[in-house]
Amino acid sequence: MKDVFKQLSELNGGKVLDAATGRGEFIQIIKQSFRSYTQIIGIDVSEKAVAHAEKLFPENNIEIFKMDLEDIQYEDGYFDTVTISNSLHHLGDVNKVLGELLRVLKPGGLLLVTEMYRDGKQSEAQSTHINMHHWISKIDRISNIPHNETFKKDEIIGFVNKLPLKNVSIEDFYYPTDNPKEVKSCESLIRNCTDTIKRLETMDNTSSLVTEGKQLINRINEIGCASASRLLILAHKQ
Ligand SMILES: C[S@@+](CC[C@H](N)C(=O)[O-])C[C@H]1O[C@@H](n2cnc3c(N)ncnc32)[C@H](O)[C@@H]1O
Repeated sequence: MKDVFKQLSELNGGKVLDAATGRGEFIQIIKQSFRSYTQIIGIDVSEKAVAHAEKLFPENNIEIFKMDLEDIQYEDGYFDTVTISNSLHHLGDVNKVLGELLRVLKPGGLLLVTEMYRDGKQSEAQSTHINMHHWISKIDRISNIPHNETFKKDEIIGFVNKLPLKNVSIEDFYYPTDNPKEVKSCESLIRNCTDTIKRLETMDNTSSLVTEGKQLINRINEIGCASASRLLILAHKQ
């Protein structure tokens, strides 16, 4: 399969904002893939994620801040590039956040969105990945952490199409898996499920989520897991 992130090697990112940076996973991709950048700012609302990401990037030109994407503390047009990866379905108000991302992007600047989706023709092993996301999202929601089910492909495109963008390119891709029952990755997913079930068992009214978690473990053992299909969207602000 063609590595879609390879096309990023053409990019000179300038001042880059990685929105909802989490544990800095996409900052690693920017570092590996972009031709150049002058600065990367990662922002996330979670203190825990920020503390984790801060330790990963000792470089002077990479900084991580705790900040709400619904109210970004940067002036209009500050960034040359804005990225948001694996995070649209984690947002309380996707349209508001995308509006803020566009506000802080300079005219002509690059917006990069990458996001998994739940519909279309996906294998049984990919459905395991999607089901797992949806189980975790229910658990986050009962803990008052915004986390929607993953979107359909057209919903993601719909969010982007509402924005004042030009030169929009959309790549639809997935990472093929030779063996969805590969022991190491299945074991790690099962460990995650088991730890989450233990946490659920200490909470009230979670018996249906515990049952769902056990069904997921059976599914991972029987079918395995593979990454869901995803979109990579690149576009420039008008
Ligand atoms: C799946 S994680 C990020 C993953 C990472 N960007 C990657 O590429 O794998 C989603 C992140 O969105 C963050 N988030 C959700 N709502 C947010 C908001 N309003 N402002 C900032 N971060 C937010 C969460 O705290 C979480 O760390």
